[in-house]
Amino acid sequence: MERLAGKKALITGGARGIGLATARAFLAEGAEVCVADLHQASVDAAVASLGAGAFGIAMNVGTQEGIEAGVAAAVAALGRIDVLVNNAGVYDLAAIVDVTRESYDRLFAVNVAGTLFTMQAVAKAMIAGGQGGKIINLASQAGRRGEPLGAVYCATKAAVISLTQSAGLNLIRHGITVNAIAPGVIESDMWDHVDALFARAEGLAIGEKKRQVAAGVPFGRFGTGEEVAAMAVFLGSADADYVVGQTYGVDGGNWLA
Ligand SMILES: NC(=O)c1ccc[n+]([C@@H]2O[C@H](COP(=O)([O-])OP(=O)(O)OC[C@H]3O[C@@H](n4cnc5c(N)ncnc54)[C@H](O)[C@@H]3O)[C@@H](O)[C@H]2O)c1
Repeated sequence: MERLAGKKALITGGARGIGLATARAFLAEGAEVCVADLHQASVDAAVASLGAGAFGIAMNVGTQEGIEAGVAAAVAALGRIDVLVNNAGVYDLAAIVDVTRESYDRLFAVNVAGTLFTMQAVAKAMIAGGQGGKIINLASQAGRRGEPLGAVYCATKAAVISLTQSAGLNLIRHGITVNAIAPGVIESDMWDHVDALFARAEGLAIGEKKRQVAAGVPFGRFGTGEEVAAMAVFLGSADADYVVGQTYGVDGGNWLA
């Protein structure tokens, strides 16, 4: 059964990783998908790999102009947006005494303001269309706890969980549900970047942090983009019509909410 038949979805940060896996899963469930990412070349490569039903736009969710232009381009490409997957995100780490304003501003601009104002722009279009919609934000297990070197990233993802609750309560009157996914540790370019940052911060060999972290997951391994995408399909489908303001862990048992 195609659980997203006829649905039109915008997926930010969709050129790779969890976003690309979600685009693939949405297409397999009958949706049309607009992949939005920073660079046209990576968007084009993603769209080519996805095949029929996929569109792409360059979009920077780190600025208000980028958000407004991107959402307008996505509506032009798709006709309307039924599902938004607010997936674009960036990571950095530092000890509290080393956190820089530049890193703080970049992470909050993309992970928090990008999530809120993309949600806002898409919600306006959904309200104007009068058909309701579904918004899925990518939070993280990091938003449920502190981490010694993850203060800023953790704070951005805690903000995503909080925004999901408030937006969920505010937008349900328009038939728009807002929910979030809190992945644990997922194989992706982002985690390769995280591993490299930990290698430098803790004097580890490349790959060692990943090995340590994987050993600590109750399931015994990292998750995959497909495993996160399966939750996004559920939250984007009519099966989740009565689900409002929630954040679901997809983390192999790492965090019991
Ligand atoms: N990988 C994990 O273990 C993990 C765990 C928890 C949460 N997450 C979250 O899931 C989401 C996807 O993670 P991923 O692992 O696939 O990351 P990734 O780095 O592999 O992919 C992220 C994508 O977002 C894009 N992007 C970054 N900044 C952007 C911007 N300003 N505008 C538009 N696109 C932008 C990147 O170009 C990239 O294609 C992120 O929000 C991340 O924080 C990931």
